[in-house]
Amino acid sequence: TDATARLDPYNEVSDIDRRIFGGFVEHLGRHIYDGIFEPGHPSADAAGFRQDVIDLVKELGVSTIRYPGGNFVSGYKWEDGIGPVEDRPRRLDLAWHSTETNEVGLHEFQEWLDRVGSDLMMAVNLGTRDTAEALDLLEYANSDADTTWTAQRAANGRPDPFAVKMWCLGNEMDGPWQVGHRNADDYGKIAMRTAKAMRMLDPSVELVVCGSSGRGMPTFGSWERTVLEHTFDDVDFISCHSYYQEMGGNAQEFLASGVDMAKFIESVVAIADTVAATKKSDKRIMISFDEWNVWYLHNEEGGQNDKPEERGWPVAPRLLEDQYHALDAVVFGDLMITLLQHADRVRSASLAQLVNVIAPIMTEPGGIAWKQTTFFPFSITSRLANGRAVRVPVDAGTFTSEKLGEVAKVNAVATVDDEGVSLFVVNRSTTDAADLKVDLSPLVSALGRSVTVSESHLLHEDDIYAANTLTDPERVGVRAADASVDGSTLSVSLPAVSWAAIRLS
Ligand code: AHR
Repeated sequence: TDATARLDPYNEVSDIDRRIFGGFVEHLGRHIYDGIFEPGHPSADAAGFRQDVIDLVKELGVSTIRYPGGNFVSGYKWEDGIGPVEDRPRRLDLAWHSTETNEVGLHEFQEWLDRVGSDLMMAVNLGTRDTAEALDLLEYANSDADTTWTAQRAANGRPDPFAVKMWCLGNEMDGPWQVGHRNADDYGKIAMRTAKAMRMLDPSVELVVCGSSGRGMPTFGSWERTVLEHTFDDVDFISCHSYYQEMGGNAQEFLASGVDMAKFIESVVAIADTVAATKKSDKRIMISFDEWNVWYLHNEEGGQNDKPEERGWPVAPRLLEDQYHALDAVVFGDLMITLLQHADRVRSASLAQLVNVIAPIMTEPGGIAWKQTTFFPFSITSRLANGRAVRVPVDAGTFTSEKLGEVAKVNAVATVDDEGVSLFVVNRSTTDAADLKVDLSPLVSALGRSVTVSESHLLHEDDIYAANTLTDPERVGVRAADASVDGSTLSVSLPAVSWAAIRLS
């Protein structure tokens, strides 16, 4: 297929908030224990953190990391995770039918964040708990006043506040699976009360209210409207969560996932702005897309894959350890393109999750850590997408999706910073390679000079189901793309089912 596109640096979406390259660490399965924290591992430091994992997380390039859940947070007592480790209680975690040892809590997690160089984004429990406990945690974490909580924080080794900026008001409270699940009205009220009180304690916090756990939720839309009617004045963000998977062996349908994500974002923006209009307000609620990924959550019958009650209450069981193949990584790259295309309203996002649990990084206890296929589009996009996001209209034809109608075969976005321009592009077709020609003349005239390809990456495998595994950890990677500039035209060859990143300088 011949594909044409135009890169005009003035066709701007907005500047990019680095927080869209965030991650998510939940107390779930082997994420913390045997993932980031494994005291007996040969690479573990004095605190028990695996250095090989720290190195990979740094290379991945994650900005803000959401913690400690997820569904886990809705039954979590944060106080269980502070003080001498030997005194900490063991608790049942109802969300994942596991036992939580509390060896890692707020202090240890912050220590790990200091090593990887990421910022903490904290979630409070609005499932089994209320405003009072959220305030206790905020005072413990952020206050510099002389109080019993802050004295305890100092006694636990942290005289200075953690100064956590972003706070999630619970997690997926629209989901019937959530401990303490509520209807939109009840959640809206507790979120509003909690947000107001948190801001009285620390006016500098940025607050995220729970949106829907997916666009397919029966309450989607009405949930956002009701919750924002209660909380509009008191929050900065509303969350979106979305997971995608191939169903019934239909790779072409799966490759349309980016369009679903775009519709989700645009719908939530429309609802948030409707609430603003009814309030005659110029305030714009931003989106925190704080859970997104490919996740093989549903089996072919449409049920959930995980049957927790069959396994008792183990510590750090192997849960949600999805193995990602090349096709997953192409869809994943397209999801990142979609986030960038909406950079004006998506000001925060968290890849769910980071290590072992639906993760770009996998570990073996006592053994190696390796990169899944999804590692590559994330690390490359996070490193190369800086400055401003720019629309890149592409003309390459469409295919028909059962759920989403006509879907563009090729999708692209660019970013422009002081040193150069990055183009991110995906070929969603399962059958047609694309010869993409990008008209760079608006860019060349804006810069007043020609540009060349300084870096290029292609993610494509003839076997779209090829994956990296414990025994073959480097099977899938990226290679240089077939990309060159001639005058003011950039040519890129995109095989069917491929993702590419091109740096021009
Ligand atoms: O990321 C896994 C789970 O997905 C999270 O705990 C929950 O918030 C969502 O349903």
